[in-house]
Amino acid sequence: MTSLNNTPKQATNNILEVDHLRVNFTTPDGQVTAVNDLNFNLAQGETLGIVGESGSGKSQTAFALMGLLAGNGLIEGEARFEGQNILSLNEKAMNKIRSEKIAMIFQDPMTSLNPYMKVGQQLMEVLILHKGMSKADAFEASVKMLDAVKMPEARKRMKMYPHEFSGGMRQRVMIAMALLCQPKLLIADEPTTALDVTVQAQILTLLNELKAEFDTSIIMITHDLGVVAGLCDKVLVMYAGRTMEYGLTDDIFYHPTHPYTQGLLEAIPRLDSNEGTLTTIAGNPPNLLNLPTGCPFQERCQHAEDRCRKEAPTLEEYQAGKLRACHKPIHWEQAV
Ligand SMILES: Nc1ncnc2c1ncn2[C@@H]1O[C@H](COP(=O)(O)OP(=O)(O)O)[C@@H](O)[C@H]1O
Ligand SMILES: [Mg+2]
Repeated sequence: MTSLNNTPKQATNNILEVDHLRVNFTTPDGQVTAVNDLNFNLAQGETLGIVGESGSGKSQTAFALMGLLAGNGLIEGEARFEGQNILSLNEKAMNKIRSEKIAMIFQDPMTSLNPYMKVGQQLMEVLILHKGMSKADAFEASVKMLDAVKMPEARKRMKMYPHEFSGGMRQRVMIAMALLCQPKLLIADEPTTALDVTVQAQILTLLNELKAEFDTSIIMITHDLGVVAGLCDKVLVMYAGRTMEYGLTDDIFYHPTHPYTQGLLEAIPRLDSNEGTLTTIAGNPPNLLNLPTGCPFQERCQHAEDRCRKEAPTLEEYQAGKLRACHKPIHWEQAV
């Protein structure tokens, strides 16, 4: 098995090291391995994109790290955050990590905001509870954070309810709330998926500015490789719970070597061009209860041959810091 001691950045100051992470669910129909032997590292200030179609195990990876797995889920492996395996922490210790060190934002901000509480109150509560701030200090700090996420008329908006905000503004509130305790790591699970394209772009620009300002490490989870382009230093492409390809964003974008990555790249909508049609990958991801033998992507892969149908490819480090699991990779050195 491949151990990821070589990250693309050769980082020595990793704040997160994920080692052989597995998430198994017991269901009435059998065992489901939603996350299957994931390895990745994250340095301070670095951004990792986790990309894959719906059902590939992205959210369960995040939930496992946050200690939010459903009751029928079981975790194997390690996730060392600042050197400590957070997968073995008790609820109390994990709560402390969640309130001080690791924050998460979700696709639908409405599910994380209390609809009956003014936005300002919700922000202030975080600071009063976790930082022991006075009400007056918490108010000023919250306004400042809303300013930081480019909320127009921040002071006035403190007194408004979540339903008075647009979807994009609510997501800004969530980002502000996530950053209030100055987390070392921010996990964003499809934070822009529910937003329209222009607002999506604004939120991505904002995250880009904030990561520089706060030096926060980010795990950006998305089904859209386009979201990764301007934000992430490196990318992990997931399919059926497994890593298909992992490397620096630029390498993955310009020289994808896994046919699945190439399929995802062809599915990126382009704002700057009306030419060409969007190609989506034909077919659907496999049922985890009934995976094909061999490569999980084989049934949808145009390059698949006999071997792919018989034998699952192992993850190999084909160049320093670049990993892939494929018997029939695209060879750029031959193509160019
Ligand atoms: N509590 C659960 N019990 C059984 N299977 C689950 C449970 N939660 C999630 N899964 C399965 O795990 C797989 C991965 O889900 P998820 O991580 O949500 O995918 P993604 O976020 O990439 O769309 C899915 O096939 C899903 O059905
Ligand atoms: Mg998800």
